[in-house]
Amino acid sequence: MKMDFSGQVAVVTGAGSGIGLAVSLLLGELGAKVLAVDKTGDMAEAAVERLRAAGCVAQAAAADVRHAHEVQAYVAQAVKAWGRIDVFMNNAGWQGLVASLVDYPDDAFDQVLAVNVRGVFLGLKHVLPVMMAQGKGAVVNTASLAAHIGTRQLAPYTASKHAVLGLTKSAALEVARKGVRVNAVCPGSVDTPMIRAIEEGQAGADAQALREQRMAIVPNGRYATAQEVAQLMVYLVSDWSSHITGEGVQINGGLYS
Ligand SMILES: NC(=O)c1ccc[n+]([C@@H]2O[C@H](COP(=O)([O-])OP(=O)(O)OC[C@H]3O[C@@H](n4cnc5c(N)ncnc54)[C@H](O)[C@@H]3O)[C@@H](O)[C@H]2O)c1
Repeated sequence: MKMDFSGQVAVVTGAGSGIGLAVSLLLGELGAKVLAVDKTGDMAEAAVERLRAAGCVAQAAAADVRHAHEVQAYVAQAVKAWGRIDVFMNNAGWQGLVASLVDYPDDAFDQVLAVNVRGVFLGLKHVLPVMMAQGKGAVVNTASLAAHIGTRQLAPYTASKHAVLGLTKSAALEVARKGVRVNAVCPGSVDTPMIRAIEEGQAGADAQALREQRMAIVPNGRYATAQEVAQLMVYLVSDWSSHITGEGVQINGGLYS
C-alpha cells in the first residue's frame, strides 16, 4: 500500500509554524488539498505560499481556535472549497507564561486552557460531524510528553495536554463505529519556535545551556525535528494505521523508556 493522499482534504491548525507547517507540507506533497489555518491571515498565507511553491493545492484560513464561530468558519471553508474533510490535524497550541504554579496569574491559566483545550475541543466538535457523515476520517490532536508527566513552570500547559489526551480517548470511543479514528501525538522537545520560547522563559540568558542539558538527557541525544513529528502524524491519519484509535503515541528519542 502506497502512502498517497490524492483526492483527500486535510485541515491543519497552527499551520503557520513548526510542526503544523511541516505536516501541511508533507500532506500536500503526498497529494492532499490543504486548508492551512492559523490565528492571523499573514501566518496562514505564509504557509499557503510555501505549499503552493512546492506544487501543492492549498487555501488559507485565519481563525483563532478559541472562538467557536471562527472554528465553524474554517470547517465551512474546507467543505465549501473541496466538499469534505478526510484529515484533521488539530495542532494549534501555546506554551503560555513560563512561571511556577504559585505565581501563575489566574487569567494566564485560563488563556492557556482556552487555546490548548477549548481550541482542540471545538475543532473536534465541528470537524467530527463532517467525517461521520462521510463515514470516513482521521484526526490527530497534538498533545505532548507533558500529557504523561509533570513539567516545572508549565503547570497550565501540562494540565492542558493531559486534557487533550482525555478528549482524544473520549472522542475516539464516540466515533469508532462511524469510520472515524482519533489519535494524539505526544512529542518530547521538538526544535520549533515554541521550544525556544520555553527555554528562554525558563533560563533567560542561559537558554542555550538549558537546551544542551535537555538534549543530553534524551537517549538519542537530541530534540525531534518537526519533520519527524509530521511523519508520525501522517502515519496516524493514513490507512497504514487503520486499527489504531484512541492512542497518545509518544515520539521522544527514548526518553523515559
Ligand atoms: N515544540 C515542542 O517541543 C512541542 C512538544 C510537544 C508538543 N508540542 C505541541 O505541538 C503543537 C505545535 O507547536 P510547535 O512546536 O509547532 O509551535 P509553534 O509555536 O512553532 O507553532 C504553533 C502554531 O499554533 C498557532 N496558534 C497558537 N495559538 C493559536 C490560536 N489561538 N489560534 C490559531 N492558531 C494558534 C501559532 O500561531 C503557531 O503557528 C502545539 O500544540 C504544541 O503544544 C510542541
